[in-house]
Amino acid sequence: MINACDPNMGFKPPSASKVEMTEMVLPNDANGLGNLLGGRLMHWIDIAGAIVASRHSGHTVVTVAVDSLDFKEPIKVGELVILRGKITWSGRTSMEVAVDVYGENLTTGQRRLTNEAYLTFVALDDDGHPTPVPCVSPETPDEHKAFQDAIIRREQRLKRRSGE
Ligand SMILES: CC(C)(COP(=O)(O)OP(=O)(O)OC[C@H]1O[C@@H](n2cnc3c(N)ncnc32)[C@H](O)[C@@H]1OP(=O)(O)O)[C@@H](O)C(=O)NCCC(=O)NCCS
Repeated sequence: MINACDPNMGFKPPSASKVEMTEMVLPNDANGLGNLLGGRLMHWIDIAGAIVASRHSGHTVVTVAVDSLDFKEPIKVGELVILRGKITWSGRTSMEVAVDVYGENLTTGQRRLTNEAYLTFVALDDDGHPTPVPCVSPETPDEHKAFQDAIIRREQRLKRRSGE
């Protein structure tokens, strides 16, 4: 069952917590082919998402779910990795954050979308228990669509969790 957010917690637009993070791929981040390691990228995606969820909730957050992550094309050593994170939806204590990843070639300036990920975080109080978070108030047409799509993903996630 989907718990709606508590309106008494107030409303915040996605723009209030969005994040853009830039990293440069160094040799230590890459495999023998000079491509960014998937594990390193997942680490950055998790951090970008957690910053968004912490900003939205004003609490420490933990990751409870990462939806499937596709690697559309490699990002090379020397290229930039741009991570854009935005909250899509919040429940009572949980939040879904979308993180889009772009590879940028510094020489040509060309930027391409390489990954899209959806992560779920839970806000914790000082005792480490789930604590209520503000509602998300979508503003743009894209944000309204992301909000509706997030509810569908959430239902599927909870079904998976309960083994249905
Ligand atoms: C986060 C944690 C404290 C929640 O405890 P819990 O007993 O599952 O608490 P609840 O069942 O009340 O769930 C809390 C919220 O998380 C959601 N949730 C929990 N597991 C989920 C999952 N796999 N997918 C999606 N949502 C999930 C619940 O639906 C609920 O959301 P809501 O309040 O918006 O309705 C506990 O699951 C935990 O400690 N997990 C490990 C987190 C971790 O170590 N992450 C990696 C390092 S950051």
